[in-house]
Order: sequence, then C-alpha cells, then structure tokens
Amino acid sequence: IETYFLFLCKYFNKRLRIYYRAAILYNKLEVIYMIEFLTQYKQHDLINHYHSLDDTDKKLFEESLQEVDFKLIQSIYNNEHHVEASEIKPIQSVKLSQDDSYFNNGLKLIQQNKTAVVLMAGGQGTRLGHHGPKGTFDIGLPSHKSLFQIQCERLICLHSLTNTYITWYIMTSHDNHDETVSFFESNNYFHYPIEHIKFFKQDRLPLVFVDGQVALKGPTEVNLAANGNGGVFTSLKNSGILNEMKHNGIQYVYLYGIDNAIAKVCDPTLIGFADETQNDIISKAVEKTDPDERVGLMCYKNGKPGIVEYSELSDQLRYMRDTEGKLLYNCGNILQHVFRLDFLEKCASIDLPYHKAFKKINYFNGHNYVEAKEPNGFKFELFMFDVFNYANDMSVLLVDREKEFTPVKNAEGNDSPNTAREMILNEHHRWLKENNLGFNNDTEVDFKLSYKGENLK
Ligand code: UD1
Repeated sequence: IETYFLFLCKYFNKRLRIYYRAAILYNKLEVIYMIEFLTQYKQHDLINHYHSLDDTDKKLFEESLQEVDFKLIQSIYNNEHHVEASEIKPIQSVKLSQDDSYFNNGLKLIQQNKTAVVLMAGGQGTRLGHHGPKGTFDIGLPSHKSLFQIQCERLICLHSLTNTYITWYIMTSHDNHDETVSFFESNNYFHYPIEHIKFFKQDRLPLVFVDGQVALKGPTEVNLAANGNGGVFTSLKNSGILNEMKHNGIQYVYLYGIDNAIAKVCDPTLIGFADETQNDIISKAVEKTDPDERVGLMCYKNGKPGIVEYSELSDQLRYMRDTEGKLLYNCGNILQHVFRLDFLEKCASIDLPYHKAFKKINYFNGHNYVEAKEPNGFKFELFMFDVFNYANDMSVLLVDREKEFTPVKNAEGNDSPNTAREMILNEHHRWLKENNLGFNNDTEVDFKLSYKGENLK
C-alpha cells in the first residue's frame, strides 16, 4: 500500500507526498515524545514493551497510557504512611438501647423521602475466590439468595414499613459494571422499582510492581484497578447523583459495603440517631475483642474524627488495653455510615490521600498473562473514611455483632460464607423463638417480611 501510495504521489500530486512525509515525521516525533515521557517516570519496562509493538498497537497502547496519571502514581509510590500512637485517642461510643425511638424517627425520615442509600460494590472478591461481582455471590442460605438480593429485600421490607421506595445508588467498577447490571436485569431487579436503582462507576488507577514499574494487562493495555472505596465521593459528584439528591430533598445518605451479609441496609435506627446528633458523620461499630481482627478502628486523629485502617495499625496500638483489660481502641468499623448531604457535597472536593496495599498483581509479561502466586506489587486506594477528618464531629453507635456484622471475605474459616450463613440463620431463629414460632435448622426468614424480627406472627 505504501509503495502504491508513493507511486501515486510521484505521478499525480507532489503535495500529497509532502503530507505523507510529514505524517511519518509526526509519528516518529510521537514515538520520541512517548519514550521521553516514560523515561521521565522511570518506566523502563513500558518503554521496552512499547518498542516491541507495531505502529497500530503502539497507537492503542498510547491511548491506554493516556489514562494514567504518572505523576500521581510516582508520588503515591514514594509515600509511606504510618500512624503514630501520639496522633490518636480513643472515641466514646453510644450503646444501642432497646427502645425504638431512633428506629421510629428514622422510619419517619424515610417516609418523608429524606434518605438515600449508596452501596459501594466496586471491589473485587479476590480473597473469596469468586469470579464475578461479590454481590452476585450465594452464601449458601436455604433460599440461595445472592448478597445483592438479600440487601435489596431489606429495602423492600423498609418499603412495606414506610410505603416509600428509597433510591439505591450502586457504585460499580470498570471491571464489574456490566456483569452487575446484567445480573440485576436477569433477576428482574428483585422486584424493586427499576427507577429506584441507579448504577454509577468509580475511577481507576494502574497497578504497580514493587520496583515502581506499571503493570500491563495485555499487549496494548495498562493494568488498571478501582481506586478504592474513597473514590465514591468524586464519582457521586461526577455522575450527577449529588445534584439529583439535593434536588430531591435528601438530607441523609447511608453509605455501606457489599461484604456484610447481615447488614441492616439503610437502618432507620442509625438515621434516627444521625438526626438527633446532627453530626456530619454517624457510624456503627462493633466491639473489637480480638486484636488481630481485620477491622478499622474509630478514634480521634490529631483531635479530628477518623478511622485507622487495620493494615496501618502498629502493634503497639493494636494491643493497648485500658485499666479494665479491654482493648483501648475497640470501636471496630463495620462500614455503615450516615452522611448529612451537605457534608457529602463537601467531601466531593476534598483531596484524599492514597494508601498502598501490597497485593498479588496478575500481569502480561510480553507473551502471556501471568497469575501471581505471591504479593508482588501495590494497589493504590482511597479510603472513604479519610474524609472524617473534615467533619465537625462523629458519633458512633455500638451495635451487637451477632445481629449486625458478618463480612464475607475468605473462602473458608473466619469471615467466610459459612460463618455468614450461620449468623443469619441464628438471628432468624432468635426472631422466631421470640415470637413463639416453630423452626428447624434450615428455617430462613424471608428478608422482605421482617427487618429486625417484627411482623412475623
Ligand atoms: C472495610 C473498611 C474497614 C472495615 C471493614 C469491615 C475501608 C477502607 N475499610 O475494610 O475499616 O473494618 O470494611 O468489613 O472502608 N470497594 C469499592 N471499590 C473499591 C474498593 C472497595 O466499592 O475500589 C467496596 C467493596 O466492594 C466493599 C467495601 O468497599 O463493599 C470495602 O472493601 P475493602 O476495600 O475490601 O475494605 P475491607 O478490607 O473490607
């Protein structure tokens, strides 16, 4: 084609030939520019790979590289973060009382359409070994409901208590968006009105090897992953959801994660509590008794509300005990927070710090896609609770672990589908017992029928 083109240029149009030469020169300059650019960020592996590609693939690869903010990646890579004991102080929690006043007030606020709920479901279930969005996972309940279905039925139950559909905003990632949406479609949105379920995608960042080299996913693609659950704030803003919430008169937004199989989604009790305290952030916690449990700890950091993530907790802080022998930092984060909408809007413009998580990174080695056996690099993540630092104050409601917290994290052992199934069935059996109703080991209560054991008779 090239020879033929040159032949045409030679005989028919000299100007064409000049354009052609200019185009070649431009391409060459582009290549030089790309190599200069990658050299500046010491991305030698990417440069070698780039050289190995033909012109078409070079173009595709350049497009993928354009999504990467190398300056940002370099600064996170060089940053180490440790939490010092002198920076933090314990926080006082309020114990959940038996009386229903917060719950009833929360129901009223739902009825007045003042609440919305945001599910963060962009993470990967790698540790669980499940292929597909974690919400599609069946923990093995007798009904075989997926995590998405269980959570949706909590909202259906709230509808029957308030006659109001709460809008459920679901954050997905590039990796699981399409599968998530088609799972809802093929399950008929679990009979929740489709206009009250809205999906939005979070942003992503490259995965980086220990030596700082950006990983590849394929011959023309950088390996990008979701930017952590702290990506929720800008994604809510950029997708127009914050404006929509404001326009709809929402006052309280319930943020939570997909992992907790027994989560009381949009719990009216926490909303009622938020309404009473009027603090910017209201969170649920369970008492941490095992120093090695992988939960973040609520505290004050340099006098401001905050959470120290389990991965950044020093041993000194982890094992500190008070005079009664209880862990000093014992308010375990269960990832259920209520934000006042005005504070949530503020969060969308806060520049959050990135955290480095040492993980197994699968990669393209120039020939094949390799599954890493051991951690070999970093995933950079924003933590949603880093915005707490900007809140006026925070209130913490201490809830019963056995009724409220069973994360599905590992395929077996602690925090696994088995422990989650057992906890849910135990809770259902307690409800049935309190109502003098019969049951056997496999009796499961339909989540649509009862939120916390009411209405069963
Ligand atoms: C999280 C909390 C931890 C808490 C624990 C309780 C954070 C940063 N950490 O830890 O303090 O004790 O829950 O189980 O909140 N997600 C996204 N996009 C992402 C990454 C995660 O939507 O890019 C979602 C996940 O789907 C999940 C939730 O955020 O629903 C938490 O995920 P993960 O990052 O695994 O944090 P945990 O280790 O569970």
